[in-house]
Amino acid sequence: MDKVTASAPGKIILFGEHSVVYGKPAIAASIDTRTFIEAERLEEDRIKIEANDIKVPGLTLSFKEDQIFMEADYGKAAEILGYVKKAVDLVLKETDVDTGISLSISSDIPVGAGLGSSAAVANATIASVSELLGINLTNREIGELGHETELSVQGNSSGIDPMVQAIGGLIYYKDGNFKQIPFRKLPIVLGYTGSKGNTGKLVEEVKKRLEEDPEVMEPIVKSMGNLVDQSRESLEGKFDSEKLGRLMNINHGLLSALGVSTKELSDLVYATRTAGALGSKLTGAGGGGCMYAYCPGRCDEVSTAIEVAGGTPISTKIAKEGVRIEKRE
Ligand code: PMV
Repeated sequence: MDKVTASAPGKIILFGEHSVVYGKPAIAASIDTRTFIEAERLEEDRIKIEANDIKVPGLTLSFKEDQIFMEADYGKAAEILGYVKKAVDLVLKETDVDTGISLSISSDIPVGAGLGSSAAVANATIASVSELLGINLTNREIGELGHETELSVQGNSSGIDPMVQAIGGLIYYKDGNFKQIPFRKLPIVLGYTGSKGNTGKLVEEVKKRLEEDPEVMEPIVKSMGNLVDQSRESLEGKFDSEKLGRLMNINHGLLSALGVSTKELSDLVYATRTAGALGSKLTGAGGGGCMYAYCPGRCDEVSTAIEVAGGTPISTKIAKEGVRIEKRE
């Protein structure tokens, strides 16, 4: 085999962000917005990475006296390449094969929007390079190496992103353990605010609020844990879409009480409910980033509402498949 293309999905946290930091459970889902990596053997002994299409949000053009100014955080795109390099190193450690590798990336997942772009890049790199070199890895093993990549590049990671994105579908996470929940389609639309909060900083702020007012804040975190378990029951047992929507709304309210929502996020959350979503909430760390709306039968209206409220709608669906090989040549 000379060339392999692999893809990996992005993710959203359906329930339980922030409270998961305090040992409570969370439910995450893979989304069918993907990163593709083509890996090819290279004659020379080096690793070459080509970023064809990495979506960096926030590109702004401004014009003054016939001059064009471009503003975008290309640093974020460069950051992604660190994950590719580490992921390749980890796979090469598994084999005696001595070869150069050329990688070509294209991604539909916006970088820095909280949709798991770095874990997708790590997972797709691991899948394509291991397949190219004839190393057999299960999806779970790919997720574990993806987690190792994140730990090495960013210093800390619960592993929830690389794991759900490797396995696909829905995952219940608690105390480092992952359990797959039976697949559900769940019609959703994402709303992107155009900016992203700093996850580490937001986690620190929540910690400070818990320390300042433990009597008030600790029951909120506990309640968030309870609602994740209730959601799991709704997903696994007798499916109750109305209840699921209600729990999303409660989760958003509690995240707001922790102080991680913003006006932009809440504007999108309320606009989508007015447009007929059964439930909606911010997803991920908050402070910007994305929200999602659960909108059976109303997804077109909800997309329009997101746009009118100043966000960018991202149409996607829950991905049944995690990492997969797209092409072998
Ligand atoms: O910003 P994201 O999508 O990586 O989500 C962070 C989720 C938190 O619960 C806030 C932090 C964590 O490590 O679980």
